[in-house]
Amino acid sequence: MWNKMTVRDLDFQGRRVFCRVDFNVPINAEGRITDDSRIVAALPTLRYILERGGRLILASHLGRPKGQPKPEFSLAPVAVQLENLLGRPVLMAADCVGPAVLRQAESLRDGQLMLLENVRFHAGETTNDPEFVRQLAELAELYVNDAFGTAHRAHASTVGVARLLTPAAAGLLIEKEIRYLGQAVSEPVRPLVAVIGGAKVSDKLPAIENLLNKVDSLLIGGGMAYTFLRAKGFSLGKSLVEEDRIELAGSLLKQADEKGVQLLLPRDHAAAEAFSADAEYRIVGNRDFPDNSMGLDIGPDTAAEYAEILSKAGTVLWNGPMGVFEFPRFAQGTLAVAQALADSHAVTIIGGGDSVAAINQSGLAGRMTHISTGGGASLEFLEGRELPGIAVLSDKT
Ligand code: 3PG
Repeated sequence: MWNKMTVRDLDFQGRRVFCRVDFNVPINAEGRITDDSRIVAALPTLRYILERGGRLILASHLGRPKGQPKPEFSLAPVAVQLENLLGRPVLMAADCVGPAVLRQAESLRDGQLMLLENVRFHAGETTNDPEFVRQLAELAELYVNDAFGTAHRAHASTVGVARLLTPAAAGLLIEKEIRYLGQAVSEPVRPLVAVIGGAKVSDKLPAIENLLNKVDSLLIGGGMAYTFLRAKGFSLGKSLVEEDRIELAGSLLKQADEKGVQLLLPRDHAAAEAFSADAEYRIVGNRDFPDNSMGLDIGPDTAAEYAEILSKAGTVLWNGPMGVFEFPRFAQGTLAVAQALADSHAVTIIGGGDSVAAINQSGLAGRMTHISTGGGASLEFLEGRELPGIAVLSDKT
């Protein structure tokens, strides 16, 4: 399955290496990084290249500054954090292209590194503009992509530069992500159970459709469950239902049946009259759902049923929380799933920004097999789509 070149196939000694990483990390109003896991996840590749005498030029985006330099999207705080983590000086560039940046890149010595300023300060990044690509490519001689979180974007630094600086190789993080996610869908230890949640069913329908060809069981939770329950004819008060997706949800239920996939929907719910952190709630079933309430979490019977299935799983893929886990009162279903995963002997793979946040919040992150650094990228992978940032990398000869 994996036939791409990796950093292990390149000789870095004395060479300038353009390395695309995903340092799109959350930074608060005081400029403090609130979760550095994406930086930590890139360290093995960076150390690998630096220890082999490479001269590292790191490129990343941060947020969506829409082609304009905006100080709040500067990568400068990341350079400081990276310096702490690596224990080496990190030269922070004022831009990502131009003569001054080129001079800095050329002045790097073996084992030294610099971080380019946010590539999305230039409109050419997201349009994959050839002139912008050329300017980025002239900084280096070799290309490495380790930005799994951005692998679903066909941008200048993820695809354009990879086409110019060949051979283009994958970093160790991309290799690891594909190994875990790929094995989980193509040769899993069975039974393979997917737990899919999150607010909007429209975001997850393509992934569910693809997973129905792979999984033994599919457990659905979160706001998206209500569109499925409506397709089954339940009335669910003020719960989030995407009217224009009811038919499709119904057809997925039918497909699951035809394919012999066990597809489970919540049987009880924490239902509240208002969408708020301190809303009073009642545990209600599908048949006695009050008209004036909305479901904000799966109920205890559902959590117990899901936990029972998870305890017997060989592999679990989890994407999306079971309720409004940002409100502690409505985080119980999500935490119950996290606990069930931690207690199981299954290979456990967590993908998607919200489920990763939930796992971190639960304090159980260390008990998962793999926590993906890709939100959108891991979802597109589960949809069975090709990720352009990986497809473009050179094949092993
Ligand atoms: C992410 O956080 O999912 C990636 O860094 C991609 O960011 P984007 O959705 O702004 O392209």
